[in-house]
Amino acid sequence: MKKKILVTGGAGYIGSHTVVELQNAGYEVVIIDDLSNSTIEVLDGIEKITGIKPVFVKLDLNDKAGLRKVLEENKGIAGIIHFAASKAVGESVQQPLKYYRNNIVTLLNLLDLMPEFHIQGIVFSSSCTVYGQPDILPVTEDAPIKPALSPYGNTKQINEEIIRDTIYAGVPFKSIILRYFNPIGAHPSAEIGELPNGVPQNLVPFLTQTAIGIRQELSVFGDDYNTPDNSCIRDYIHVVDLAKAHVIAMDRMLENKSEEKVEIFNLGTGRGVSVLELINAFEKGTGVKVPYKIVGRREGDIEKVWADPERANKVLGWTAKESVEDTIVSAWNWQLKLQERGIQ
Ligand code: NAD
Ligand code: WQD
Repeated sequence: MKKKILVTGGAGYIGSHTVVELQNAGYEVVIIDDLSNSTIEVLDGIEKITGIKPVFVKLDLNDKAGLRKVLEENKGIAGIIHFAASKAVGESVQQPLKYYRNNIVTLLNLLDLMPEFHIQGIVFSSSCTVYGQPDILPVTEDAPIKPALSPYGNTKQINEEIIRDTIYAGVPFKSIILRYFNPIGAHPSAEIGELPNGVPQNLVPFLTQTAIGIRQELSVFGDDYNTPDNSCIRDYIHVVDLAKAHVIAMDRMLENKSEEKVEIFNLGTGRGVSVLELINAFEKGTGVKVPYKIVGRREGDIEKVWADPERANKVLGWTAKESVEDTIVSAWNWQLKLQERGIQ
């Protein structure tokens, strides 16, 4: 029988897709989420896809006593996937303490309680933001960590250090740190997807909201970058591909296959796609035009970054499979589903 996994932030965007893949792989899932950036209806979406409603506990992970209680009441949790965090880069500049508290204290509470409950490993959601603008592309896991451009980015760097220091101090558990590039798209069923709060700050939700008429026009930030079409380049990865990597990482830790007590993997496609190319792929894939205008650069934007995913390909046996066209079409299908449900 497969084991029980605690998924923090499991009602969120990447968390919900990962819960689906964990359940499909036979894992039993317990979600902790305070619903600060998600809704309870996500559980219905998960149930529609997998036929199983995961155990759900509404809790703020800053509440350590509450967390201990959940672990006592859900005996036998073998591993944790820790998604719960605040993630809006701009907001983190305005409210740094919110980010330092929410993204650091929650991890401390989990790490503190893991030995007591004999939890064998923790998968942590990190980000390509730790690389800043890399000197060499594609970027490997060994590239230097650059000074963070925002408190949010800094919390990811600090989290990675906290995990490393804790594990090298000799605690009885392991960790796999996953550095995500740009997750986009939605489950092919369109039962779950990304639910941005207010005006989206990220490209894809803004693009699909513009295409459907919620927003008037997409602003393309900058046309003077040193890239072939002068717009920024990112490594956009389908969220379902990303979710699948978490199941492999969890299997690896629980089956004692990790080669080091802390392992780090880039999760990207290895393919750089510019903003204009992504708009083009959307228009080609959906037949829908996106009204856009080119405006000035957005402060703090990295010019170009894409992953070298070779370590994940070779060591985890994981590869991002979805094309950028299918991925962006899945984001559109999700936007259409939201419209059907009357969610703007
Ligand atoms: P999300 O906001 O959709 O999901 C996070 C979930 O955590 C939400 O459901 C939220 O309600 C919950 N949460 C937040 N604080 C909590 C707390 N104190 N206690 C309990 N629950 C709490 O975000 P996401 O896009 O799914 O991101 C998941 C993780 O991946 C985050 O750690 C994020 O920093 C990281 N990440 C995301 C991206 C991205 O582009 N989406 C890229 C790299 C890394
Ligand atoms: C992608 C590209 C923009 C909006 C952010 C965080 C990062 C990570 C993922 C978590 C850029 C351009 C965007 C718009 C545009 N999160 N753009 N018009 O900036 O790569 O990364 O989310 O760890 O930490 O910084 O993603 O989707 O915001 O932007 O032209 O309205 O789209 O300039 O080139 P980004 P994004």
